[in-house]
Amino acid sequence: MTKVPVVTIDGPSGTGKGTIAALVAQRLGWHTLDSGALYRVLGLAAGRAGVDLDDGEAVAEIAAALPLDFAGGRVLLAGEDITDAIRAESAGMAASRVAVHGPVRAALLDWQRAAARAPGLVADGRDMGTVVFPDAQVKVFLTASAEERARRRHKQLKGKGTDASLADLLKDIQARDERDRNRAVAPLRAAPGALELDTTALSIEEVGDLVLAAVRRGAPDLVG
Ligand code: C5P
Repeated sequence: MTKVPVVTIDGPSGTGKGTIAALVAQRLGWHTLDSGALYRVLGLAAGRAGVDLDDGEAVAEIAAALPLDFAGGRVLLAGEDITDAIRAESAGMAASRVAVHGPVRAALLDWQRAAARAPGLVADGRDMGTVVFPDAQVKVFLTASAEERARRRHKQLKGKGTDASLADLLKDIQARDERDRNRAVAPLRAAPGALELDTTALSIEEVGDLVLAAVRRGAPDLVG
């Protein structure tokens, strides 16, 4: 079996990982994996089932039998469209709580690895390059100041007609960073050899071009 090429894009929330992953995948004609969406769905599903998000074993049980579907760009949980619901700040917070548990992460591993299908995959998250796809051909780690990430989130929410407080968003981002970086299992880290890009002063297009250049350097035979 030939190995499917994988590009990993990791980093804290608000660095533009998802947007960059989608842009790069579109340019390459590859698939995407938004691994954060999995943790968000799980946080939502566990909350709805009345399970304590700090109970790793109970949440892992839900993870193992998640009736989840990604269809036509929408996220379906047992047939219900939860695409917008999982984007709420509360779903991000719930995601980062369920994501600290080893059994939960283990239960989601096969799901994520199955996304590596020909002709290639661009996967974004926190541990794509370190744990899920350690053999990826190209690894990228995006950063940006917490203030800039809060500003981006604020602008995004405003665009959707939601007026959140910038100070609250900054606090949420810092709390989530803290938990993601300091957890015992699969903490947020740049993988060895990853290209580290500070996107604070860069546009989406500039970051996309830098990542595509890294893919051309790292896997010249895969890209025209
Ligand atoms: O990327 P996104 O903000 O959607 O991720 C939500 C949360 O899910 C993160 O704060 C993190 O705790 C968790 N996550 C993770 N590993 C991943 C992707 C997301 O732990 N690969």
